[in-house]
Amino acid sequence: MHRIAPHEEHSPDVHLNLNVRGMRPSATVAINERSNRLIREGRKVIKFGLGQSPFPVPRPVTDALRHHAHEKDYLPVRGLEALRLAVADYFRRRQGLVSTGEDVIVGPGSKELMFLLQLVYYGDLVVPTPCWVSYAPQATILGRQIRWLPTRREDDWRLTPGQLDDLCRPDPDRPRIVVFNYPNNPTGGTYHLDELRELARVARHYRVILLSDEIYGELHYRGQHVSLGRFYPEGTIVSSGISKWCGAGGWRLGVFVFPPSLRWLLDGMAAVASETYTSTCAPVQYAAVDAFRGGMEIERHLWLSRRILSALGRFCHHRLAEAGALVTKPEGAFYLFPDFSPFREALAARGITDDRTLCERLLTESGVAMLPGQEFGRRPDELTARIATVCFDGVWALAAAEVLPPDTPPDETFLRSFCAPVVEGIDLIREWLHR
Ligand SMILES: Cc1ncc(COP(=O)(O)O)c(C=O)c1O
Repeated sequence: MHRIAPHEEHSPDVHLNLNVRGMRPSATVAINERSNRLIREGRKVIKFGLGQSPFPVPRPVTDALRHHAHEKDYLPVRGLEALRLAVADYFRRRQGLVSTGEDVIVGPGSKELMFLLQLVYYGDLVVPTPCWVSYAPQATILGRQIRWLPTRREDDWRLTPGQLDDLCRPDPDRPRIVVFNYPNNPTGGTYHLDELRELARVARHYRVILLSDEIYGELHYRGQHVSLGRFYPEGTIVSSGISKWCGAGGWRLGVFVFPPSLRWLLDGMAAVASETYTSTCAPVQYAAVDAFRGGMEIERHLWLSRRILSALGRFCHHRLAEAGALVTKPEGAFYLFPDFSPFREALAARGITDDRTLCERLLTESGVAMLPGQEFGRRPDELTARIATVCFDGVWALAAAEVLPPDTPPDETFLRSFCAPVVEGIDLIREWLHR
């Protein structure tokens, strides 16, 4: 029997919102906490679970934050004007998008902006899977239905224009937001020009709103990210921020750029923001102006980061594929999404028939922490998992990459020295698979 502690005797009853009841902290946070607990118990754990940038915030941006530490006033709910202008200018410069500061909203992370968007929009949220872990729980919190759209590994986990058309055709006027995320978390894949053009054509035909989550855009390995906003400007909201390319996840700043035709959504979000978080952290907004204005030092930082991520992503891809996993070649960000189904029978003989058991057993038997594909909207029996290749010292790796000749990309020796835990983790997975 539950003994009532003296302090509980007169405490209020539990009345939790039904939408939140039974909800657990996000899977990425949970795997990180679990790994840290094992480490505290003296176990060695290679952390492939949490996907945050390994690299430091570029110096001009930390200098700007220091310089603006005294800024203490609330800022406009939509964001500091200089920042909104810098963001609009950044998207014009980088992507040729025509927007003004009026089309931009700044928030405490793009995750929060996505939550606001789901809250103010009245319609379906369609999410191709595998997808980032938070879109669906946000819908659940708000009591909304989410519509999954599974992609196929044979299509490199990309949504095809045909699939989008099949979704819309039976109910062409239904209000919908379709989420695109590329370079993608969890697959590391991206869309190519002709695919974007075709997807945009279908979206325009059905007047669907697209939320293009381009937070990893600057981490396209070749620096050639192309925004979906170029092809369907009147219906695309572009989402970005400083968490990934600028390494400033903990600073909490994200941005959305809207077409003027969707100003009603921006206005709705700003109204809710004004009644909830008021405005985004002031010194961080001032510092973000310098991040979005860019410059030589930031460009160099990005160029080196991409070189390391690209060499590491391709190396890990090669090693996993060589071991027999089915894995799409990453083209950006810092993730891989191997499919272990070729090992289905061998794994079943070891009592493993779903992705969660697979990850659990790998963690306990080899000390490698990955996240099961079901956290990304995939079926457990598909035996997929996400690997985040970021558990290395980014400051050290950047310094080492700095002295490599420009025509010499980081090779295996470099990766084994400066990204050692990642390479070791991949080796351990290979060894565990063939046990
Ligand atoms: C695909 C994707 N979108 C959005 C976010 C949220 O980024 P933030 O809220 O830090 O801007 C993340 C963070 O992990 C992500 O991976």
